Amino acid sequence: MIDLHSHILPEVDDGARSLEQSVEMCRMAAADGTTHIVATPHSNARYIFLPEENEAKIAELQAAVGDTPRILSGCDFHLSYENIQEALRNHAPFTINHKNHLLVEFDSHLIPPSMRQVFFELLSAGIIPIITHPERNQVIQQNPQLLFDWVTAGCLTQITAQSLTGRFGSRAQRLSRRLLEHNLVHVIASDAHDLESRPPRLSECFDLIKKEYGETLADELFRKHPQAILEGNDVVPGRSPTDFQKPRKRTWFSRIFFPNRY
Ligand SMILES: [Fe+2]
Repeated sequence: MIDLHSHILPEVDDGARSLEQSVEMCRMAAADGTTHIVATPHSNARYIFLPEENEAKIAELQAAVGDTPRILSGCDFHLSYENIQEALRNHAPFTINHKNHLLVEFDSHLIPPSMRQVFFELLSAGIIPIITHPERNQVIQQNPQLLFDWVTAGCLTQITAQSLTGRFGSRAQRLSRRLLEHNLVHVIASDAHDLESRPPRLSECFDLIKKEYGETLADELFRKHPQAILEGNDVVPGRSPTDFQKPRKRTWFSRIFFPNRY
């Protein structure tokens, strides 16, 4: 699996607190089946994003961890005016693996009406926004159609693995499922911050998606789409938001008579 969103670099934000903890997080990810992990420090009012320092920390961490997982560069990019102008000038320091996809986050209580214009400007500049954890945003929880508009305009979305498994409450869990069922999710990532509360683990969520929605979708969300993003290629989803996808609820009858169906 490929994890596109994590706070594994030491002492750059509210993620790993030391190099030792970063190493442990990488080992945990590798043991869980993650082959590539993107280090995405925050760039917001609280944390300054320093691309050169981050690159040095990635090299140091990779040397300490060994070959697996491969650690790549990215940013948890807050959609502030200054950040947007900076990315429009030069997006490579912020985008995933220095290609053309950018993880973007909103304030959790306020999304300005101008956001569609912002997305248009980013897309026109060749930057594809990946909206991070919309299921945890209160404004989107109340207006999920916003996401439909942005996805049909060309944005992608990433939900957090632990939202689906219940860590962020029932509203985030319900909306995650709703978005999945309407094909409004392109990637699932850990958004790991530590070893206990928000660990870099994807396998539990992968198994859940595989069981309830099928292996093809699980493979798209954890491997195929993230791989395309790492390479700077377009993500081509198997289904569009207008094709409703029903979760698979197996009955005793189907388990006995159609054991190989899912
Ligand atoms: Fe994050």
